[in-house]
Amino acid sequence: MDLITSCEEMQKRAREWRRLSQCVGFVPTMGALHDGHRSLIRLARNRADIVVVSVFVNPTQFGPSEDLAAYPRDLEGDMRLCRAEKTDVLFHPTVAEMFAPDASTWVLEDRLSRGLCGASRPTHFRGVCTVVARLLNLVLPDFAVFGEKDAQQLRIIRRMVRDLAFPVEIVAAPTIREFDGLAMSSRNRYLSPEERRQAACLRRALDEAEQIYLSGERRASVLKETIRQVIRTAPLARVDYVEIVEDQSLEPVEFCEGPVLVALAVFIGKARLIDNTRLPPVSPP
Ligand code: PAF
Repeated sequence: MDLITSCEEMQKRAREWRRLSQCVGFVPTMGALHDGHRSLIRLARNRADIVVVSVFVNPTQFGPSEDLAAYPRDLEGDMRLCRAEKTDVLFHPTVAEMFAPDASTWVLEDRLSRGLCGASRPTHFRGVCTVVARLLNLVLPDFAVFGEKDAQQLRIIRRMVRDLAFPVEIVAAPTIREFDGLAMSSRNRYLSPEERRQAACLRRALDEAEQIYLSGERRASVLKETIRQVIRTAPLARVDYVEIVEDQSLEPVEFCEGPVLVALAVFIGKARLIDNTRLPPVSPP
């Protein structure tokens, strides 16, 4: 596996792969890799000739009061995991490599980014879109893999790629969970043992909502209140949002009739955890 830290070198290699008609699969990450990332890399490995994983903690997607400085960093561990999964190139640029001091161009997706996480993190998706656009221009992949755990991010990236005609396929990968249902996330590293135990309430709450949906409840307000009740059973948890939205437009719904996305963000101690589930369309009687 090669470690590349220069943007110029990354793009040079990418152009060479293109010239040789190699299929390039790309997994963008912020590092502190876990088994969720491993599954994204495996998916890329199964389809591509060349697999590139980027590890870059992108400052532009953190708000001023967020956890940029404390965000977990573990390059040694990341390199081990990437090597084990037969990654060809680990791209690990510095902030100075990625953003010129007078950089003044942003990529702003202006509809899907407004609700859900965008409501409590107003500049987050602008930072994500800008860095992903730049990474795609450096790696020139045929496809890039994003996890369903970040359902809003996935839909925003698809929209950006469509709207700006990036020549790349966006591939979605299912959420990987711990034994008790907690979605894998680099931020789980922040949790104390007791917080970790209580964090299982996110998935329990989504399961409960899914059960009452499957038994016929269609009112979004009832499903959301059910979720809040389950979260209240974990004293260390504080809800940021619980929303039910149309699966593609991410517009809030009152009744769950099409495919809808049930999404939530919950603070547990210092960590802000997100999770979601997609409810299938109602089948006709
Ligand atoms: O999902 C992430 O880890 C990040 O938002 C991404 C896509 C790597 C952009 O920094």
